[in-house]
Amino acid sequence: MAKGRTTAFFCTECGFESAKWTGQCPACRAWNTMAEEPVGKKESSRHTAVGGGKTKARPIRLAEVSIEEQDRISTGYRELDQVLGSGIVAGSLVLVGGDPGIGKSTLLLQVCRNLAASGHKVLYISGEESLKQIKLRANRIGTVTGELLFLCETSLDDIEEAIRETKPQVVVIDSIQTMYREDVSSAPGSVSQVRESTNILLQIAKGMGISVFIVGHVTKEGVVAGPRVLEHMVDTVLYFEGDRNASYRILRGVKNRFGSTNEIGVFEMREQGLEEVDNPSEYLLSGRPEEASGAAVACSIEGTRPILLEVQALVAQTNFGMARRTAAGTDYNRVNLLMAVLEKRCHYEMSRYDAYVNIAGGVRMNEPALDLAIVLALVSSLKDRPVNPKCIIFGEVGLSGEVRAVSMAEQRVREAVKLGFESCILPQVNLEKMKKVEGIALHGVRNVREAIGWI
Ligand code: TYD
Ligand code: MG
Repeated sequence: MAKGRTTAFFCTECGFESAKWTGQCPACRAWNTMAEEPVGKKESSRHTAVGGGKTKARPIRLAEVSIEEQDRISTGYRELDQVLGSGIVAGSLVLVGGDPGIGKSTLLLQVCRNLAASGHKVLYISGEESLKQIKLRANRIGTVTGELLFLCETSLDDIEEAIRETKPQVVVIDSIQTMYREDVSSAPGSVSQVRESTNILLQIAKGMGISVFIVGHVTKEGVVAGPRVLEHMVDTVLYFEGDRNASYRILRGVKNRFGSTNEIGVFEMREQGLEEVDNPSEYLLSGRPEEASGAAVACSIEGTRPILLEVQALVAQTNFGMARRTAAGTDYNRVNLLMAVLEKRCHYEMSRYDAYVNIAGGVRMNEPALDLAIVLALVSSLKDRPVNPKCIIFGEVGLSGEVRAVSMAEQRVREAVKLGFESCILPQVNLEKMKKVEGIALHGVRNVREAIGWI
């Protein structure tokens, strides 16, 4: 760092640091994201080894490394444990991101309650709410017992002291954007503050073997506000998402050093806090109108879990020269592409119609296996002919109108059988490789035209 320099420019997207202002970030190529921030003295803290530099490490052979069974603490929620990879790992740093008001504080408070009830010492630090507000929320979610301590604080130096004094097993920081360090001169929530604060928490987690949950707010673009740097520093990144108007929430793992990613957990927001949803498929399909045209049930795989959901389409004659298309819960361009396939390969005059596609229940699914269900929902609405409500559909559609194989076909079919579906339209290629499944009629299709013949 140049002598006497007191400010530097940070990219608010990726945290890249530069001495000069640039219109485009040289690292992540985002435009207009470089913001000037004062830089403090704290050069030393940035380079201390993880663990506070207590003992000097020496290089060793892998064979000398003993892997005792990783200590995992159950959160009391099967759905969350699964996303974390069977529980909380001691000394891990977990980032929980999500829109404001989605239920991050509620989820973590409930986890803290469970942990305290099972005999763990937990410290919940809030920089956003007063103790009164927390108490009001705690009253909604039920009784709190055991060693659950609360602290309203935003200064990390004080927080560090409190953690060293109380020695909890799990710490919750709500939220990282409100935390600050005195020796960093920029405002809380700025890139350098967030980075330095996380650094301290990382040292606490690794040095003292405490598991730390960090709440991070998400910007409109869907990234943890400003600093993506956060995602690189922590062990696990979870996103809590869902439509704020719908009551259920999906917890998605996007990075996990201790387990598989792309696992999801499903919760429902009730009057008394969040509740686990044991069978998401049943939940997503509840209230489905039977015998209505333009609806098809698809099966998507999330992580290792098959989830059934309803794809709805409404196709109506367009009033203006330009047809309108919208897609809620799935990829807009994909819908356009599928309509072009219908137009070109099956000779439906799609350009004369407006089309609205929606995944019911407010979930977002982008898996290509949904293609065939979207196509059949569109055709069903166009012809005003309902799809058999006891039929599930999956398959990827290619540009020549062919139906291509998808992964884990057998799991999808088994999930459908479990929920009482009687027939299934699936890619022929998948059908040929699959073992026989009892209790469901399987219709293999090679292309979109064959699939349309089944509805
Ligand atoms: P909150 O956990 O404060 O969100 P975040 O920390 O992600 O900003 O969630 C607040 C929302 O959840 C609020 O709109 C009220 C709702 N809520 C319930 O519906 N039931 C409950 O029992 C609780 C505690 C909150
Ligand atoms: Mg909150």
